[in-house]
Amino acid sequence: MASPSSLELHINGSRHVLDVDPRATLLDALRETAGLTGTKKGCDQGQCGACTVHVDGERVLACLTLAAQVEGREIITVEGLAGADGTLHAVQQAFIDEDAFQCGYCTPGQIMSAVACIKEGHAGSDDEIREFMSGNLCRCGAYPHIVAAVRKAAEALA
Ligand code: FES
Ligand code: FES
Repeated sequence: MASPSSLELHINGSRHVLDVDPRATLLDALRETAGLTGTKKGCDQGQCGACTVHVDGERVLACLTLAAQVEGREIITVEGLAGADGTLHAVQQAFIDEDAFQCGYCTPGQIMSAVACIKEGHAGSDDEIREFMSGNLCRCGAYPHIVAAVRKAAEALA
């Protein structure tokens, strides 16, 4: 293993100086070094979407992103979505209201993708939501409720 290097990451509005292997993924840096375990590791090879976070407002797969690539950029994880007073983001609330999860393992990635999907303007219909959320797999098959939650949040945020 290469010796750790010091990286400055901006996560959820806070500056974190982390000692990580230069080849560490953003996913491992978040979970294992920064202690932010809300972002989930599913496949660890870009196939499931469980690790979705935002970098400069765009959704990225943290398992395919090197931590060093995002130094100095604005990273938002599921822990950073709620307001400072604890008010849930409209997408988080909609997932609760629509019962859009079973085991919950895919949920942080689904929520981060949904926030971006709505912001991108890709939540105009159920078909569009399904297409633009298709990178996020749910082994529990909660898809109908997930689509309903994204539609509800898109309406709330319109
Ligand atoms: S853990 Fe990153 S896509 Fe599955
Ligand atoms: S709620 Fe279990 S994997 Fe999606």
